[in-house]
Amino acid sequence: MHLEQHASLLAYNTFRVEARARYFLTLEQLADIPAFLGDARLQGLPRLILGGGSNILFRADFPGMVVRVALRGLELLGEDDSHRFVRAAAGENWHDFVRWTVEQGWPGLENLSLIPGTVGAAPVQNIGAYGVELAEVCAAVEAVDLTTGEFHRFDRAACRFTYRDSLFKQQTGRWLITAVTFRLPKTFTPRLDYPGVREALGEVEPTPLAVSDAICSVRRAKLPGLAPGEPGSAGSFFKNPLVPAGQAEVLRASYPGLPAWPQPDGRAKLSAAWLIEQCGWKGCREGDAGVYAKHALVLVNHGRATGAELWRLAEAIRASVRQRFGVDLEPEPILLP
Ligand code: EPU
Repeated sequence: MHLEQHASLLAYNTFRVEARARYFLTLEQLADIPAFLGDARLQGLPRLILGGGSNILFRADFPGMVVRVALRGLELLGEDDSHRFVRAAAGENWHDFVRWTVEQGWPGLENLSLIPGTVGAAPVQNIGAYGVELAEVCAAVEAVDLTTGEFHRFDRAACRFTYRDSLFKQQTGRWLITAVTFRLPKTFTPRLDYPGVREALGEVEPTPLAVSDAICSVRRAKLPGLAPGEPGSAGSFFKNPLVPAGQAEVLRASYPGLPAWPQPDGRAKLSAAWLIEQCGWKGCREGDAGVYAKHALVLVNHGRATGAELWRLAEAIRASVRQRFGVDLEPEPILLP
């Protein structure tokens, strides 16, 4: 077990901000967990479990221990008449895993193509895109409780998935996810209703692979960090706010262009990107911290922005949306420290 001290996190966060971890460890095998849990230097320190670092903002140095999970392995566990059960270790790259499934003709994950990060990070924020959420296809999550060292297996209900949230996000630093098992339907039902997906597919016959390719082209057209030379980011910086239906109606009466999607619980989900764009932020830049010109929900680092500068910009955006629309935007990435 190699424990680095005062390690740079620059290469381990997709925002590409400079920050240091007091201690840093890359975990390649489960057998190393007892060693670091028992290490006297690490007792009582805050812990951070890192996957691809694609949904995190380091606002300052991290005063504790960062564990980068690099566990590998993919496996078809078994199947029944209607589903395949596929298990992936937490350190596998998410998109590579998705492509591995669709290239074999296995449906289920194609709409979640090209999401940055690792398999182990996917349940933390219940990743979702183009009409599909991880919660729909997740059968179980295996994790170590770092407060006791015990292994747990959570079935889907126990993960408490909601929109961009889970038990694991609520208890950051406690659970080290080691593997995720997916329940993938054998019957392919293409999900093409999200705006832009059908158009990107064109006349091509929808197979899991073709839909994955279409999703990749939609994402590349509006999200940064998917090609060399693009600015750093953590994807959407705010969640789409959920507001009472009455509040959404009042807002829509004044702003008919505001996209709002009714939710099963009676609330409405509003487009945070639209609210931010209306406040004039799209494409703005303060030093190297900016709002992406192609998508108002994405904060970007054009070069050497610090986490504190990005956070200052986020707070200014939040204040203006609150003042103009009376809506509070909640950050989506994990904010540290
Ligand atoms: N819009 C604007 N201005 C913009 C961009 C979008 O007004 O600059 C409006 C448009 O009306 C558009 C609507 O916002 O129709 C929705 O935009 P988009 O389809 O890009 O989706 P989003 O709600 O902004 C969410 C997820 C993304 C995910 C996409 C596609 C959240 C916080 N974000 O974004 O996830 O890729 O839907 O499913 O729910 C992420 O979580 O990091 C992420 C990128």
